[in-house]
Amino acid sequence: MTKKTYFLGLDISTTGAKALLIDAVGAVVGTANTAISLQTPHPLWSEQDPEEWWQAMQRSIRTLLETSGISGESIAAIGLTGQMHGLVMLDRDGKVLRPAMLWNDQRTAAECDLIREKVGKERLIQITGNDALTGFTAPKILWVQRNEPAVYARCEQVLLPKDYIRFRLTDTYATDKAGAAGTLLMDVRQRDWSDEVLSALEISRSWMPKTFEGTAITGSITTEIATQTGLVAGTPVVGGGGDQAAGAVGVGAVEPGIVGLVLGTSGVVFASTGEPFIEKNGLLHAFCHALPDAWHLMGVMLSAAGSLQWYRDTLAPKMNFDDLLKPAEAISPGAGGLFFLPYLTGERTPHPDPYARGGFIGLTRSHTQAHMTRAVLEGVAFGLRDGLELVKGAGLGEIRQIRVSGGGAKSPLWRQILADVLDAELVTVNTTEGGAFGAALLAAVGLGNWPDVPTACAETIQVLDTTIPNLEAVKEYAAVYPLYRELYPALKGFFKNLS
Ligand code: XUL
Repeated sequence: MTKKTYFLGLDISTTGAKALLIDAVGAVVGTANTAISLQTPHPLWSEQDPEEWWQAMQRSIRTLLETSGISGESIAAIGLTGQMHGLVMLDRDGKVLRPAMLWNDQRTAAECDLIREKVGKERLIQITGNDALTGFTAPKILWVQRNEPAVYARCEQVLLPKDYIRFRLTDTYATDKAGAAGTLLMDVRQRDWSDEVLSALEISRSWMPKTFEGTAITGSITTEIATQTGLVAGTPVVGGGGDQAAGAVGVGAVEPGIVGLVLGTSGVVFASTGEPFIEKNGLLHAFCHALPDAWHLMGVMLSAAGSLQWYRDTLAPKMNFDDLLKPAEAISPGAGGLFFLPYLTGERTPHPDPYARGGFIGLTRSHTQAHMTRAVLEGVAFGLRDGLELVKGAGLGEIRQIRVSGGGAKSPLWRQILADVLDAELVTVNTTEGGAFGAALLAAVGLGNWPDVPTACAETIQVLDTTIPNLEAVKEYAAVYPLYRELYPALKGFFKNLS
């Protein structure tokens, strides 16, 4: 019999379906990615077709098995991760009822107000750990109820994106605790659905999948899917985790004191806690972590590296990122008085406001493209500092280390700006595959390859290098950051009127 010594991580992100294989010591032996498309049929809407996710994920699995030369028989277990908060609605036969509404869909401001009214804002934060935000799942369910009653009437099951893939792989309805916490329907302390919130919102508990810890087995590959993908029937699939929790596992941010900072499309400050810790105003997300008995606080800015991507695509489409960023190195901190507000798709932390907008503020004739580039990098760093300040203010205790990851963290200039704006040392680690790697580790722990998640992380993840703050720049940013902080309150009313 073939020895089962490999673990598969599957990540359904907003841009692609990724499959990644690790061996028993956590080395990545192969990856495959298939791009997926995004639809924005109306302003504020963001949707995808679950069938496209599924086709893309099957292709990635098949490609990975072919290119790595590893057979499905050698795979001991599978872990899932993916974009959080998305709403997939199914009818009684498991058929998709409408396109999935995604984490960055901003159409549900009215439904968020309704949720606060029905549950009470304070009670909502006490139970779920969070205020109602447009990106979360519960307001999306209410939006369908109010705007598409015929669809709502046929709904019998609600799933998150990653759990739709799980359903197709295993024919079971299940979710992980970390992902479930992002629906706004979970009692975050009890780590299960809240009957109080569900009944206040008139959402049937029977619609909600069973919740599992990230390392627990939720089902196994069906015979039909085995034939289609090259996987083997009966291969167990563990809970896994939402992309941020699984990504934190993937960089070893699994214990209090180690903070993860993600410079991806969105920008995230992620702090693990050993108990459920709720920020009293709900300004930070308080979710379950992907490992048992752990929770986390998180600040999310919606356009981090996404801001740089937009800036390059729109204002410098012919340039590669290296050429675009290089001249910004010579610009002094503060970009000559030019600010960039990174709220290109509204914002969550620290300003939960779907109507917030981006902008360059302070432009003069003396500013060059290099100033503008630097202002974008700095604006995103200021936004992340907003999140970090909230984490510090939540009283979690000492931050021993900040681990920075995501596409933007590849830039030494951006890492230096971040270290200077945050006045903190930043480290990078050897693992760069994010949530898919974390999901594969969760599968490996679930099958006993390591006794627990912290041990798996300690044995597979090493610090690579450290970015040390430059004292002069720290001083300059300390003077400039308060000016940045003035911008949103000054423009908030204008943004609302603009919408
Ligand atoms: C987390 C969040 C994003 C999405 C997409 O709260 O909204 O991380 O999961 O990546």
